[in-house]
Amino acid sequence: MPPKKEKQSKEIQGDADRGQRLFKTLCMGCHSMSLRGIYGKNIASGNMIYTSGLLAKATEKWTFKNLDAFLTHPKTFAPETAMGAAAVKNARDRRDIIEFLKA
Ligand code: HEC
Repeated sequence: MPPKKEKQSKEIQGDADRGQRLFKTLCMGCHSMSLRGIYGKNIASGNMIYTSGLLAKATEKWTFKNLDAFLTHPKTFAPETAMGAAAVKNARDRRDIIEFLKA
């Protein structure tokens, strides 16, 4: 286990190293490492070719809540999304992936 980082907020702190390993396994078939940093940015600002399904939410930000909802079940978050098949069922996995996406 890597040493725990200090808590930066009241949110439960994720493990970015574990998140990076999960990202490589689960996400890099379609995304590159450049997706890192999307946390806090506008939805659909990630410079992807197929972002049509998320454009309806483009005025919102990728907060923890929005990323968690999207990764839990992409089509519930955005019915038209082209990322339908990439759900992450495990809450800890989602939290760590989101931590990795922060910066
Ligand atoms: C099968 C290919 C595929 C996989 C696997 C995949 N994605 Fe995606 N992802 C997409 C596509 C396509 C979009 C654009 C969706 C849309 O706009 O409808 C997207 C969009 C996103 C966005 C929003 C980008 C933006 O501009 O706002 C995030 C964040 C994201 N994916 C995270 C992840 C994470 C984290 C994983 C791994 C758990 C993952 N994706 C796995 C295809 C994939």
